[in-house]
Amino acid sequence: MKLPVGAKLIGVGAAVPASVVTNADLESLVETSDEWIATRTGIRQRRIATESDTTSGLAIGAAKDAIGFAGIDPGIIDLIVVATSTPDNLYPSTACTVQAAIGASKAAAFDLEAACTGIVYALAVAQQFIGSGTFKTVLVIGVDIHSRFLNWEDRNTCILFGDGAGAFVLQASDTENEMLSTYLRADGNGAHLLWIPNTGTAYPHAGTEPPVPTQRFLQMNGRAIYEFAVNAVPEAVHAACAKAGIRVEDIDFLVPHQANQRIIKAAAERLGLKKEQLVSNLDQYGNTSAASIPLAFADALLRGQIVPPATCCLVGFGGGLTWGSAIVRWTAVDSRPPDSQTESKDQPAQLEGKGTKNE
Ligand code: ACO
Repeated sequence: MKLPVGAKLIGVGAAVPASVVTNADLESLVETSDEWIATRTGIRQRRIATESDTTSGLAIGAAKDAIGFAGIDPGIIDLIVVATSTPDNLYPSTACTVQAAIGASKAAAFDLEAACTGIVYALAVAQQFIGSGTFKTVLVIGVDIHSRFLNWEDRNTCILFGDGAGAFVLQASDTENEMLSTYLRADGNGAHLLWIPNTGTAYPHAGTEPPVPTQRFLQMNGRAIYEFAVNAVPEAVHAACAKAGIRVEDIDFLVPHQANQRIIKAAAERLGLKKEQLVSNLDQYGNTSAASIPLAFADALLRGQIVPPATCCLVGFGGGLTWGSAIVRWTAVDSRPPDSQTESKDQPAQLEGKGTKNE
């Protein structure tokens, strides 16, 4: 359905904790090896939150970076959507904390939970609010600190994840539309294939008694998720292309959720995409869940892999199960002078344009 108002993407940003944990560091925690992790996943290191890092702190860092890129006054933002499965607290929403911290004084703000697909869901929400004419400027953020919910004695899961945040700024346009399509799916039948139990109201806490100590660690059926992902990614790419009225061959870059390099490679082969078209930085950051797509996007711009104008397919998959995609046209350039593009970066740390492109 064609929306009355077009939406342009005008900014992207990212923030990660300063603390780097390499595969070699993990060898002292669990029985694993750099070789096993790199071969099976493509991950070489990840950023892990220290005690002072918070979900809102990372989100604020990414938001400021994206706002700087866009060159806008935060006071004009109408809506902030934060996609996260690991909020600071059940409430207030992390989005409200961000709203106050960045001075987005007139913005509405809420959190959205669709696990690793959250940022794609958030882009679809922004597209709808802008497309209907309700709002003009929307900030969407994907952020997660999964390290607080990992069992650091479980080698099946603790090696996969990193912490981080990424953000996009979207704005209404009378003349152009760069959100060409979005496609969203869910299948709750696969809920227990990937979940973090004992973290909500199903937690066995009876009345005035203190909660029963119960493990609240991320649990995953790795093989089932792998199978799900290698099918979900091509399906979502084809669906988004069909909705946008373009062919897969018209995509310049695929920016997939950064879960596993083997998933990215297998999906790309099914789609007939070349390795130069694949955006990947999970070797440096691991799986940062809702943050991974904007984090990889920002990194690819810094490295000069994505050069505007470019037609990009963003595709996410994860807990829920959820999956989804967006075809976007990227024409925006950083409004900051080149020297300041990586230094306006308050703590937490910002990207340094490193990471491999397409292995
Ligand atoms: N180091 C060394 N050995 C390990 C490790 C480790 N870190 N983890 C598992 N192994 C062992 C297993 O115990 C098993 O040993 P066994 O044969 O003696 O039982 C062996 O390695 C093989 O294990 P598999 O599970 O078969 O390994 P596989 O090749 O499937 O790789 C992996 C596991 C990497 C988890 C893979 O299944 C995968 O990537 N799945 C998708 C996971 C994912 O993407 N999750 C997140 C997506 S959604 C989201 O982002 C929230």
